Amino acid sequence: MQPAASARDKPTASERKPLLRARGLVKAFGGLLAVNDMSISLGQGEMLGLIGPNGAGKTTLFNLLAGSLKPTAGSIDMAGRDLTRAGPERRIASGIGRTFQIPRPFAEMTVLENVLTGAQNQAGERIWMNLLRPGRVAAEERASVEKARSLLDFVTLSRLEGEPARILSGGQRKLLELSRILMADPQVILLDEPAAGVNPTLLELIIDRVLDLNRQGKSILLIEHNMEMVSRLCSRVVVMAGGRHLTEGKPSDVARDKAVIDAYLGGVA
Ligand SMILES: Nc1ncnc2c1ncn2[C@@H]1O[C@H](COP(=O)(O)OP(=O)(O)OP(=O)(O)O)[C@@H](O)[C@H]1O
Ligand SMILES: [Mg+2]
Repeated sequence: MQPAASARDKPTASERKPLLRARGLVKAFGGLLAVNDMSISLGQGEMLGLIGPNGAGKTTLFNLLAGSLKPTAGSIDMAGRDLTRAGPERRIASGIGRTFQIPRPFAEMTVLENVLTGAQNQAGERIWMNLLRPGRVAAEERASVEKARSLLDFVTLSRLEGEPARILSGGQRKLLELSRILMADPQVILLDEPAAGVNPTLLELIIDRVLDLNRQGKSILLIEHNMEMVSRLCSRVVVMAGGRHLTEGKPSDVARDKAVIDAYLGGVA
């Protein structure tokens, strides 16, 4: 595995070209501002950590970036293209992939079938293509199955491809979800607590695969409470509290920051 130092040797945030940017995002749920004037920028090829106490608004920010929630105010762009009003499908097509804090695979579908649900723009879904170009549809389906199998190999779930997803452990479900989103070839991967509830062996595998994806050029935004994982992967970390951007910096520095410690203690120092 690549030593963590290599992540720190990479260009700093200011040297990187911004890829995914959110500016002044607000999300109100009734009177609660779950995200409150939040700005964040993920650089090309960066692995950026996003931390903060429970209820800080991290997952809500992911929902806004992935298009499953519409912002009350603010804007989102990817490689200079405005995506603020784009729905989840267009965000996926624009290169944004996200995993969920609690993965919910299709329990009765096989592991392989679950991965295949991540394929984009399959001609087989277009009824006219099926009637007019059945050969092309069959070839695309074969290519998708081949790709899904190689992704299952990447996340070490190959031997379970024919099993129903319900038999997978929590950690295996996280790996399954990762392989599913990789079907759409995302440039940006949003990972919501990939280490939560995962056993130490599987955690090492997840860290290794995330490093591998970053080496392949993918930009990664990582929500994680496991600071050891954040420190090993990210050279920069953004801290959210109360829906806002509290501070950002190197993991070792923010972990010592008094405002951050206070936020984790609920403001009671
Ligand atoms: N759909 C919703 N409707 C109403 N309130 C919501 C909704 N989703 C989130 N919230 C509230 O918004 C706030 C932020 O929640 P969010 O899930 O984004 O936090 P988080 O930082 O991801 O926390 P955790 O670390 O526990 O996952 C919380 O107070 C939560 O109760
Ligand atoms: Mg969350």
